[in-house]
Amino acid sequence: FIVDKGNHRHFMEKEIYEQPEVISHALSNYVDFHSHTVKPVDAAIDFKNLRGLAISACGTAYLAGLVGKYWFERYARLPVEIDVASEFRYREMPLSKDQAALFISQSGETADTLACLRYCHDEGLKIGAIVNVKESTIAREADAVFPILAGPEIGVASTKAFTCQLAVLASLAIAAGKARGTISPDEERQLVKSLAEMPRIMSLVLNAIQPQVETLARDLSKYKDVLYLGRGTSYPLAMEGALKLKEISYIHAEGYAAGELKHGPIALIDENMPVIVIAPHDRFFDKTVSNMQEVAARGGRIIFITDEKGAAASKLETMATIVLPNVAEIIAPMVFSLPIQLLAYHTAVFMGTDVDQPRNLAKSVTVE
Ligand code: AGP
Repeated sequence: FIVDKGNHRHFMEKEIYEQPEVISHALSNYVDFHSHTVKPVDAAIDFKNLRGLAISACGTAYLAGLVGKYWFERYARLPVEIDVASEFRYREMPLSKDQAALFISQSGETADTLACLRYCHDEGLKIGAIVNVKESTIAREADAVFPILAGPEIGVASTKAFTCQLAVLASLAIAAGKARGTISPDEERQLVKSLAEMPRIMSLVLNAIQPQVETLARDLSKYKDVLYLGRGTSYPLAMEGALKLKEISYIHAEGYAAGELKHGPIALIDENMPVIVIAPHDRFFDKTVSNMQEVAARGGRIIFITDEKGAAASKLETMATIVLPNVAEIIAPMVFSLPIQLLAYHTAVFMGTDVDQPRNLAKSVTVE
């Protein structure tokens, strides 16, 4: 069928705004919105008896997997080994049949990810595939397919596929926790209830932050380097924010674990390199704020992406503070993806780059 941009200037913009709808669709495949429980998972992946999980993917899909690692370890007490597919396939990692392997790919055709799948298959592991394209090679070769149901993603920079991958990973981590008895029925209900609230919250956020992010993007487009910081699940998000910015605006950006700041990147801090800090008011908030203080004390300019509680708790002067609603920890990565996607998008629009087809990039990398 025909996919058009609707009222949007670019596919990327359309795909950013589609997220509340597609994520709701994705979730409905994995959770029951009425009983607030997870639906049974394909029996090919026996979460109850697994000793560990190996996850592999490339680019944005890899960063979704990294968020998933935090969830599987926290909610299901399931150890996760994760690497980018181009490393995973050559690492000669010891694998065993009581592990399962999960591969995440929007296209389902990425060459390195497919090679890892085949490697794990030959080692006798059960294979799960989190894909958007259900007819893809990766889906065909998997024992269990977990579709993300995002609909066609045309923009080369992945947006809705990322948040739908996260929604599926969160649902699977809850299902794994349930199967392994590491979360109680009450915790399951609370977590699923939070997931169910997410589409509505994402709609609110998209409408609320757009004008501020557009203004901020105009300022950001004047810089050559940007540092993104985050802790916990905000760390993979910091890397995703940096990846989005690099891909479409061609601004050099790095995503770092906030705690790593003083182990190197702090040497770069000056007024010419904005530092974007992703910090919802979670268990790590105070630690991240102390990293922000280190940035401020060295004349660094801070763009603070936080929630209402976080904004009230921090007294630091910033270049801009983007305030999102207070949300449950499990949905923060999806909700906080919205400002980083929009910031990259509007920055690229100001710079006049080819947003949907950035230079040198292909939507699907089918060669090694
Ligand atoms: C994301 O914005 C990228 N264009 C890229 O990193 C992408 O996520 C990666 O190539 C993986 O693609 P896949 O999900 O189709 O396997």
